[in-house]
Amino acid sequence: MVKLGERVTIAMDGPAGSGKSTVARKVAEKLGLLYLDSGAMYRAVTVLAIQHKTQTNMVKLIELVKACEITFDDNGKKIFLNSADVSDQIRTPEVNRLVADIAKVPEIRTEIVRHQQKIGADGGIIAEGRDLTTVVFPHADFKIYLDASMQERAKRRFAELQSQNVDTTLETVENEIKTRDEKDTSREHSPLRPAEDATRVDTTGKTIDEVVDFIVKIVGK
Ligand code: DC
Repeated sequence: MVKLGERVTIAMDGPAGSGKSTVARKVAEKLGLLYLDSGAMYRAVTVLAIQHKTQTNMVKLIELVKACEITFDDNGKKIFLNSADVSDQIRTPEVNRLVADIAKVPEIRTEIVRHQQKIGADGGIIAEGRDLTTVVFPHADFKIYLDASMQERAKRRFAELQSQNVDTTLETVENEIKTRDEKDTSREHSPLRPAEDATRVDTTGKTIDEVVDFIVKIVGK
């Protein structure tokens, strides 16, 4: 049993739009944990590729990743690439389109996973992504796999993009999510899959607060 306040590690995986980042952020606030958005790191690497025009030159990109510095501030709300704030840049449609192909490169994953393990070395963290329960923190105190129906995930992403004034349609968003799911689950290295010992939570029809309370209860039990 883990008491609140101890340096717990919570690992959470799930597909795009399952609610991972919003839920993890809120759990982090409630339990006083560090929040690690692992997807943001692959997104920052994609910004690095765009900056250096190495989107298709993986040999060069791997070198750049080995030499770059990715840091967070404001408990995961801000991300810096070589000291520059790229928090907005990592969410552009161009990054959305490119990131899955960059995140599948094994040498890039090795570098990023090592960095994530360093950040989480002392516990006191909730980390979310696609391989946190299976590869990055396989011995986490709590492992959670969040999911929701495709329609619900697309609706959530669409609403999020609309609030950011991004001009798109529900159909486009649904197709983008389908393509990303396909790439994330079928890649050779660290594909998205539920860890055998993960608690599976279907968030379809549930509010964020319901899911947050459920997780806080599991951790506090
Ligand atoms: O969670 P997100 O949408 O910000 O993730 C962006 C991309 O990064 C997504 O296509 C999957 C990939 N990713 C990954 O491969 N491993 C992780 N731990 C997190 C994200």
